[in-house]
Amino acid sequence: MASFRDILITTQSRLEAGNLHFGHGYFDAHDEAVALVLAAEGLDPMTGSEILDAAMSDAGEKKLQYFLERRIQDRLPTGYIIGYAALGELTFWCDPRALVPRSPLMSVIHDGYSPWFNQVKPSRIVDVCCGGGSLGLLAAHYSPESDVLLLDIDTDALALAETNRRDKGLGNTLCVQADLLGALAPGSVDIILANPPYVDAEDMANLPREYHHEPRIALAAGDDGLDLVHKLLQQAKDILSSQGILFLEVGNSAPALVSSYPDITFVWLELASGGHGVCAVSASELRGSIELTGSPASQV
Ligand SMILES: C[S@@+](CC[C@H](N)C(=O)[O-])C[C@H]1O[C@@H](n2cnc3c(N)ncnc32)[C@H](O)[C@@H]1O
Repeated sequence: MASFRDILITTQSRLEAGNLHFGHGYFDAHDEAVALVLAAEGLDPMTGSEILDAAMSDAGEKKLQYFLERRIQDRLPTGYIIGYAALGELTFWCDPRALVPRSPLMSVIHDGYSPWFNQVKPSRIVDVCCGGGSLGLLAAHYSPESDVLLLDIDTDALALAETNRRDKGLGNTLCVQADLLGALAPGSVDIILANPPYVDAEDMANLPREYHHEPRIALAAGDDGLDLVHKLLQQAKDILSSQGILFLEVGNSAPALVSSYPDITFVWLELASGGHGVCAVSASELRGSIELTGSPASQV
């Protein structure tokens, strides 16, 4: 039987030779090799180097071969293969009903929305386009006094978010099916966490194979990547409280956003978790810059 050390080295080499894309929550082949080996053996993802000289079981090695086929031949993201993914301090169930959790907005939550939100505690936080629920559940974990609403239009993604919500046992959370923010009452939200689909047509046409396993509804957002963002900005302007802040991730579509709204000051954030195209914009900035549209049809 081979040691975990030897198996890790071989696994990393196979991943490196596989011409893979590492964009789903792991930095590189080494990082993914560790995750796949630990999952194949059924070990805790936080297991450390103390196991390196121990022998991997035959059953673990067999499972690892299966995992590697799915990763290398099928280009399935590791989160979908092992069935879970970590974001910040929490680990979430993960499957192709929703995007693999990886949003850099996690750092904003971890830092308590500082220095953007200056009230003592946000009373209501909304994770709009919540997918599997990672951001909203992290927000609820760090702000147990806040009510956290997780919204998604896709019932499959929302079912996964609900599983994660129950698993975490966070009583201050609720998952609701909704088209963006249209069901929320004016002035009722202090923090909006928005990780909408924002991939533009050019990027969609050039996506590495791994991304084709993720729901298209979670990625594609029209020619300039802003199909949903336009509506989101209009709605955020109305539903944010007077001190409220929208945290918005738009990735490569940041230049398109800036040129679409030359009068809005988007503050682009440098985040500890890396990532790019994440901005903060206040309610007052939005109210000063976007013309009012109609009021929401039904309100939560
Ligand atoms: C980038 S993914 C969000 C991933 C999420 N942050 C996570 O960690 O799982 C975008 C999500 O937006 C949802 N979505 C797309 N159109 C929507 C709409 N009109 N209203 C609400 N959610 C929408 C998709 O179903 C998808 O789950």
